[in-house]
Order: sequence, then structure tokens, then C-alpha cells
Amino acid sequence: MDKIVIEGGVPLRGGATVSGAKNAALPVVASALLAEGEHVVRNVPELADVRTMDRLLSAMGCEVARGSGADRHVLSIRVPRSVKPEAPYEMVKTMRASVVVLGPLVARWGRARVSLPGGCAIGARPIDQHLKGLSALGADLSLEHGYVEARALRGRLRGATFVFDGVTVTGTENVMMAAVLAEGTTVLGNCAREPEVVDLAEALVAMGARIRGAGTQEITIEGVERLRPLSHAVIADRIEAGTLLVAGAFPGNDVAVQGCVPAHLEALVEKLRLVGARVEPIPGGLRVVGDGRPRPVDVRTAPFPGFATDMQAQMMALLTLADGSSVLTETVFENRYMHVLELKRLGADITVDGRAAVVKGVPALSGAPVMASDLRASAALVLAGLAASGTTEVHRVYHLDRGYERLEEKLAPLGARLRRTRA
Ligand code: EPU
Repeated sequence: MDKIVIEGGVPLRGGATVSGAKNAALPVVASALLAEGEHVVRNVPELADVRTMDRLLSAMGCEVARGSGADRHVLSIRVPRSVKPEAPYEMVKTMRASVVVLGPLVARWGRARVSLPGGCAIGARPIDQHLKGLSALGADLSLEHGYVEARALRGRLRGATFVFDGVTVTGTENVMMAAVLAEGTTVLGNCAREPEVVDLAEALVAMGARIRGAGTQEITIEGVERLRPLSHAVIADRIEAGTLLVAGAFPGNDVAVQGCVPAHLEALVEKLRLVGARVEPIPGGLRVVGDGRPRPVDVRTAPFPGFATDMQAQMMALLTLADGSSVLTETVFENRYMHVLELKRLGADITVDGRAAVVKGVPALSGAPVMASDLRASAALVLAGLAASGTTEVHRVYHLDRGYERLEEKLAPLGARLRRTRA
């Protein structure tokens, strides 16, 4: 198991380029199942989670190949006429997002068998809304031996009106993918408005799907009989970009983030400005300059366009050094404060009360060994370690590798002193 060893306290200065978005790539790759033939997806980050999705499609009978050298972000997927429409427990347990194959499978082959994801470090994360949406489209669902068995009555789903009880990103994606091949029109209400949903809709439209309203609360889909293969470039990763922007906001830092989409980062940029950082547009991205000690700021996570839950841990790392107290409120996941105890090991002063965390700023952090508990928590620990004096060792970096493409190689050119070693 790898760890990252950080010599902190060195100012970060320079530029970094953002990779493709994990959370857009996963559903886009799964959407290839909707059409037979040769698909090409570009700007696909090289990440453990994407490899899990590749393996899942391969296990079903698809051929998935990643290019090499300059083409290493290009994924070619050959989807045969028929596949084994199943997502086994071994894969779903390593990546919950595997569940996004459910919609495409039942839409195209009229049946699917997908393992029910179990618990998760950041919250219960049920998939009841995915299932309710598919059921509204006419899927007959049953739970057998830990698997969701889905069948489309008469082999094809049919359009329907469905309103999600709560906003769900992969739930919206799953049901939208199911509806594109359904008979008739589907209207989905209370949809997630995340840029990843919009990216998936654009990929589907390029395949011949008829979708309106992605990016708003109501998405209308007119089902078609068949789609053509996918050719799509995935959007830039707004969470990786956001993580680098927060890195720039630490005192003494100056980071230019290239290749990001500022419109996807507005809620974060607003908070970084309130913290006192200078954020300015540059060609192809944003630059952040950390002007002295951060000012405290309250942050409440919410679905897009609100402040992303996936940025909560990194923002908390920054606020540990603020000149006063901040209150962070996590409204999306019920247990997303696993990083708090680890940040405290670095000298942070944080108290959690239910969904709220009070972060009392301290003048400095001091390096220590810490343990990553989930993907974004590990990024927060890296940021805090870079700002802390002395040595920080971040253990269990496999969490980081699930969603950041060699983060240490993006930070090192900024002057960060960090290296990956075997723990
Ligand atoms: N929820 C339900 N029922 C459902 C679905 C969701 O109650 O059927 C609840 C969840 O338990 C949670 C809330 O709704 O409390 C929102 O969950 P959502 O379904 O939106 O999350 P997700 O689709 O499972 C995606 C990202 C997450 C990101 C969340 C929120 C992917 C592959 N994952 O998860 O990304 O945190 O949306 O924005 O898109 C990460 O990248 O580190 C990550 C965890």
C-alpha cells in the first residue's frame, strides 16, 4: 500500500492542468452499453474507478482498450450485439458508481442483474430513487440474494413522468439513460443539475438521443428505438480543479489552474474570495493567490449549483488556518467528517455536532502521520500536510488514486515537496 510523504511549509507557485472528470467519465463510459458498435471516449482520466468500470464492461463481454502515450486518455469500447447484463458484487462493492450500468442494461436488453451496493464510509447512500425511477418506466424489480433483478415488461421500458424525492446525481443519470431507449416520452422532475449530468446528456444526444432540459430540474426525454455509437470528450474535473484552487488559497501560495470551466466552480470561487484569496480568470482557467491568513467563512454543502460536498473536506483543511471560527454544514451525506480526526492530528481545532463542524482557526499546523478514509478526505489531508510544518505521511492513498490522476505529479511542479513511497 502506498503512502505520500510530504515536507510541508513550502509555498506553492505555478500552474497545473486539470484532467477529465471521473464522475462524468463513469456514466459516459456506461452509456456505451446503449448502442452496439465501436465507441470512443476521450479525456478519460487514468484512475482506479475508471479501471473498475472498464473491467465491469469487459466482464459483460465488451472489449475496452485504452490508448497509450499521447492517446492514454482515449478509451475505445466495442459493445457486441448481446452482453451478460450483470454487475457482480465484487465490482459494485469496490465502486458504488457501478450501479449506473443498471439503466442502460435494462433499457437495451430488457433485463439486468446488478448487485445492491452495501454501506459506504460517507453515508448510507441508498439507491431507492434509481429503483423508483426505473420502476416508473415499467421495470419490474426484485431483490434476490443481494442483487437487484430488473426486467422490462414486454422487453422495452416505456416513458413516464417521475419526480425524484431528493436530488441524486447518479440516480438522475441512471434513469435518464434508461429513458433514452424507452417507448414514448419521459419527464423527470427534481433532477440533479450537476455539470456531469449535462455532459452525459450531451454524449447521449450525440448518440441520437432526444433530451431537453439537462442542467435544469426538469429533463424531458423522447425515447428512440436505437442509438449510434458514442464519440465524446469528457468535461474537465471540477473537483480536481477545485482542490487545486483551494491549494492556491493557502497563505503564500499562487496557483494557476488550467483547463477548468469557471462556470462549474462559482460557489467555490465565491467562498475563496470571502476567505480573502485573490481569484482571477486567466486564459483557459483560473488563478488563485492566497493573500495572508484566511478569513473564516461559513459553508453549507448543497447539490449543484451549491457548494459541492466533494469540496467540503478540502475547504475545511483551508479553514483550519483561518483567523477565527467557521461553521461547515454537510447537508448531502450524513457521515462525511471522517477527515476531522485526522486534521486534528495535524493540530486543527474542529468540533463536530451532527451535520455541523465548527472549525476554530489555528495559526499553524504541524506535520504528523494521518490516515485517509475516503477520496476527498485524502485530498484534504494532502492540502493540510502541504501547509503544515515538518513531515506529514498520508496513509491509504489508494483512496486518493480512485479520483485524482497522480495528484502528487501535479503538485510537485508547483514546488510541493512530496513523494509516494510504499508504506
Ligand atoms: N440518495 C438517496 N436515494 C438514492 C440516491 C441518493 O437517498 O436513491 C441520497 C444519498 O444517500 C445522499 C444524497 O441522496 O445523501 C445525494 O446522493 P447522490 O445520489 O447525488 O450521490 P451519488 O450519485 O451516489 C455522486 C458522486 C459523488 C458525489 C455525489 C454528490 C459520482 C460517481 N459520484 O454520488 O462523488 O459526492 O454525487 O454530489 O458521480 C466523489 O467523487 O468523491 C463522490 C463521492
